[in-house]
Amino acid sequence: MKPIDFDDLYWDGQHYDLQNRDYVNDIPFYLRKARQYSEPILELACGTGRITIPIAEQGIDITGLDISEPMISYAKKKAKEKNVTVGWVKADCRNFKLDRKFNLIFFPFNSIAHLHDLESIKSCFSCVKMHLKDEGRFIIDIFNPCLDILIRDSSIRYPVAEYPDPNGKGTVVITENNLYDTSTQINRIKWYYKIGSEPEVMKELNMRIFYPQEIDVLLHYNGFKIEDKFGDYDETPFTSTSPKQVIVCYVNK
Ligand SMILES: C[S@@+](CC[C@H](N)C(=O)[O-])C[C@H]1O[C@@H](n2cnc3c(N)ncnc32)[C@H](O)[C@@H]1O
Repeated sequence: MKPIDFDDLYWDGQHYDLQNRDYVNDIPFYLRKARQYSEPILELACGTGRITIPIAEQGIDITGLDISEPMISYAKKKAKEKNVTVGWVKADCRNFKLDRKFNLIFFPFNSIAHLHDLESIKSCFSCVKMHLKDEGRFIIDIFNPCLDILIRDSSIRYPVAEYPDPNGKGTVVITENNLYDTSTQINRIKWYYKIGSEPEVMKELNMRIFYPQEIDVLLHYNGFKIEDKFGDYDETPFTSTSPKQVIVCYVNK
């Protein structure tokens, strides 16, 4: 299997949480699904536990798996401070073996975009199938590709986020540009960090784009049956103008 085309954007959990501090509308959706499909639950690519910890705070048995040491260490620290129990696992979602099965496995917030080639996708889906209980559900959410963003002029910088530096160095201002490779379907994004008066630092984020029919077919030919496809976390049906592809599926027996 190819080494992960790693995204050095996941370098610091504190910065990640500050960048995403307003992104909360997926949490009620995953809490609803956690209650609907029941514990135990596994979150793939859990990052800093942005979704994992609010679910664990409800007393639900959840495991969070992520490959990034800085992200999972920060998740552990936050869970400890809040006195909540989560089973944290540092592993590659393309190759993991836990000795239990789950009623719900979810792969949220565009994380599948980090799987760039067919072998990675197949290996991840195969691990999911091995860890799902008979009636278990698998949920993926990814954006509905926005062609206007993909074809943007790569010489232009666009604003991303602004927040106070957690280490007191002033304001962090992030801008980005991107170059979409139509053959690999990988959007090569560069984030430029300006932290206070320090020199600018560039970090890369490479996101594989999954078109709506493509992800459905990938799930189908990897043995999943799609039960619902929503266009957002409010569970409205998926349409061409939907911002998200939120897919609920199960193993097709
Ligand atoms: C967009 S973040 C999502 C984090 C978290 N689920 C959330 O909703 O905030 C993507 C995460 O995927 C993780 N990741 C990327 N490739 C991975 C892999 N092969 N196995 C496990 N985690 C991976 C990164 O470390 C990062 O934490």
